[in-house]
Amino acid sequence: MANDKKSNKPLTISKREFLEAFAAIGGVSAVLSALDGWGMGIASAADTPPELMGRAGGTNVLILGAGLSGMTAAYELTQRGYSCRILEARPYAGGRCQTSRAGFQMTDDQGETQTCDFDEGLHFNNGAWRLPSFHHSVFHYVRKFGVPMEIMVQENDLGYLRFDDARGPLAGRRFRRREIKADMRGYTSELLAKQVDQGALDNELTNQDKEQLIDYLVREGSLDARDLRYKGTVNRGYGVFEPMGARTASEALAFKEILQSGLGNTFQGVTQVARPHTMYQPVGGMDQIAQAFEREVGHMTTYNAEVQELRQDDNGVRVPYRDTNTGEVQIAEADYCITTIPLIILSRLPADLPDRCKEAIAAPGITPVSKLALQMNRRFWEEDDDIYGGSSTLGIPGHTVIYPSYGYFGNKGLIQSMYAIGRPAEEKDGLSLGEQVGWAIEHSEKIHPGQFRRHYDDKAFSIAWHRTPYNKGGWTAWSSQDRQKYVSLLLEPQGRVYFSGDYVSGLTAWQAGAIESAWTQIEKLHARVMRA
Ligand code: FAD
Ligand code: ALA
Repeated sequence: MANDKKSNKPLTISKREFLEAFAAIGGVSAVLSALDGWGMGIASAADTPPELMGRAGGTNVLILGAGLSGMTAAYELTQRGYSCRILEARPYAGGRCQTSRAGFQMTDDQGETQTCDFDEGLHFNNGAWRLPSFHHSVFHYVRKFGVPMEIMVQENDLGYLRFDDARGPLAGRRFRRREIKADMRGYTSELLAKQVDQGALDNELTNQDKEQLIDYLVREGSLDARDLRYKGTVNRGYGVFEPMGARTASEALAFKEILQSGLGNTFQGVTQVARPHTMYQPVGGMDQIAQAFEREVGHMTTYNAEVQELRQDDNGVRVPYRDTNTGEVQIAEADYCITTIPLIILSRLPADLPDRCKEAIAAPGITPVSKLALQMNRRFWEEDDDIYGGSSTLGIPGHTVIYPSYGYFGNKGLIQSMYAIGRPAEEKDGLSLGEQVGWAIEHSEKIHPGQFRRHYDDKAFSIAWHRTPYNKGGWTAWSSQDRQKYVSLLLEPQGRVYFSGDYVSGLTAWQAGAIESAWTQIEKLHARVMRA
């Protein structure tokens, strides 16, 4: 609940409005940091799979969905003597661990098919794209399966910031992130240093504390130690740079103007816990992780198998599925079932589950999420602007300029021009691919004038997860009340059916959540089988 100062009345805003307000101010990373507040972006709860004691000779487990959660369950259970079978509706495994490259096809729920035609060697992660170092559960399999990894540059101070709707004279001007950052830190350090120096904090600080703090502020804010003033710094960029001669700092902006513009309010001294400066990605695309799993469990997977119903009784589970190529319906049977089908899809399937469980499945919404990548025929951001990875922003909801963290110094590259979450994603729904590209170029030209349009290579790929069959959403959107009310129920077996997926973890919208939920559920299943 926020406070409306004018009326002094409490101002209630919905989670959605709150996120949109965040997006308008700080872009996607601000939205994602807000999500952390709802328990959606924290560290791994477990580093390694559970030790399952004893072998389950021949118990059959049917796993619905070949995303990372389903494949983790299949892989681990098979190691312990279970006989597993996976039913996957798509012709490939991975779910939201998915990468588009030349030839990749995606048909949306309106029947529109896009075929990716990026040049050889270029790929775009449609879903998951970055991993923080402490998502240990994902790295457990990266190590086990030997998936080559590389650094993904999350934060780059050379990226640009430009707010056209800002107040004051800085509106519509483009700055390097480091210019704004250096000035904000400089001026705020100066203010605090002067207060300390003039005794304003004498009740709180000893003389030694004051000395240490001023020393820190001089360093942090690049202050002149003699008068504790911020007069600019070369760290914000050079004004004059003569290779063998003079070097001066570029001129600092006026503090009040930065404050007015809000440009400074996009930074934090320490990066958000789930999104540090450097993150990690598999070489060649995120789906390399899915493919590594697939090499282990692909032989037990039936593809193009769209689950129609979920039936169970005291003796076992029975799952009719439709072959999406032939339309033929067949039945799969097993002792137990682990479903990883997204709740929005599962809620529409006839199922033998208790009413309270059905209520839990139907309770959450989904988060609409769209992405768009544009192929550029020249890496102008590297060649002309010295930007290697990271991003630039206009502060426009849904719009991004995310530079690729692979293929450096090459000829071509993909720029992610949209990462729309929530309403901004839905607003793009009616647009054709060409219209989305037009929207992206029009905005991105403000960051790279004259370059975006000129170097667009006429190749693009977009995905709207909320319009994608078999997901129908970027990720599950629990209200905090429903999360509390229902997740514990879904974590318990409902008869012979177990629920797994990032939606029942503390890491919704992260692959670590998908993997760790599988670990949690197979442990429960195994204990039961051993007891029996
Ligand atoms: P899914 O991958 O959704 O798997 C479910 C499977 O069930 C799918 O393969 C689907 O085809 C199948 N299925 C559905 N219906 C049926 C049916 N009727 N019959 C049979 N099969 C069916 N995670 C990160 O770690 N880092 C990130 O940077 C990151 N970014 C993301 C960005 C976006 C845009 C999105 C959408 C997700 C992102 N995630 C990220 C989250 C991550 O992708 C997911 O948490 C994880 O992949 C979920 O795995 P899962 O197995 O639980 O579900
Ligand atoms: N975890 C997802 C991301 O990092 C949502 O973009």
